[in-house]
Amino acid sequence: MTDDQAPVTADALRERMRSAPVLAGPLPSFDPATAGPEPGPLFARWLAYALDDGVPEPHVMTLSTADAGGRPSARVLMLRGVDLDRPAFDFASDAASRKGRDLADRPRAALTWYWPRHGRQIRVNGPVETLDRAAARRDFLGRREASRVAGFTGVMSAPLEGRTAYEEARRRAAGHVAAHPDDVPEGHTVYRLVADDAEFWQAAPAQGHVRLRYTRDPAAPGGWTRTLLWP
Ligand SMILES: Cc1cc2nc3c(=O)[nH]c(=O)nc-3n(C[C@H](O)[C@H](O)[C@H](O)COP(=O)(O)O)c2cc1C
Repeated sequence: MTDDQAPVTADALRERMRSAPVLAGPLPSFDPATAGPEPGPLFARWLAYALDDGVPEPHVMTLSTADAGGRPSARVLMLRGVDLDRPAFDFASDAASRKGRDLADRPRAALTWYWPRHGRQIRVNGPVETLDRAAARRDFLGRREASRVAGFTGVMSAPLEGRTAYEEARRRAAGHVAAHPDDVPEGHTVYRLVADDAEFWQAAPAQGHVRLRYTRDPAAPGGWTRTLLWP
């Protein structure tokens, strides 16, 4: 199957979207009464179940940032690590990229996961810390060669003149990685989003969807308040 066939009309797309299944199930259940006082363990339980149950790429998430003028942008990234106690979520990118520039101007962001097979969405918001060079080194040098070559190929998010320029840069980067296997690109950065709030959303088409939000609250026992939200 390819995507370069005859033109597709908006009407045809609308009809097809209407009849495309969503939240079709069977879905797991979620009883917020069984959720603990902090969001970290619940995140771990849901992600571990997604990994166990073969949900495709459950560690892929959407990162939303905003620039200095408040203009939002979002893209998909890999979750590189998690601290379940805070909880905090690590991702890695190039500091010169659009997201890197956004985070330098406004070090707050949102992360979203959606696992269709389980009808589950998790949303997390909070301030973003930039980890030190040692963390960036560990992250980069632990990657496969192709990923390290990509890290030395051009400047992420900068305009590219054409594929020829890209191929040349990639060849140079491959030579650099072979000659200097311990080198780390200057801009390679590990970021850590520390959750201020976290929302767990469970689809339940027959009974009504469930939303549980945790909000960081130093005055609350355990440091979090829990709130059910109207779905
Ligand atoms: C499945 C998947 C995983 C990705 N993982 C990363 C990642 O871990 N780090 C990263 O910088 N970009 C990753 N990307 C590319 C980003 O989506 C994005 O194109 C890139 O980071 C540039 O974004 P920006 O211009 O908004 O900074 C991934 C893309 C996909 C589709």
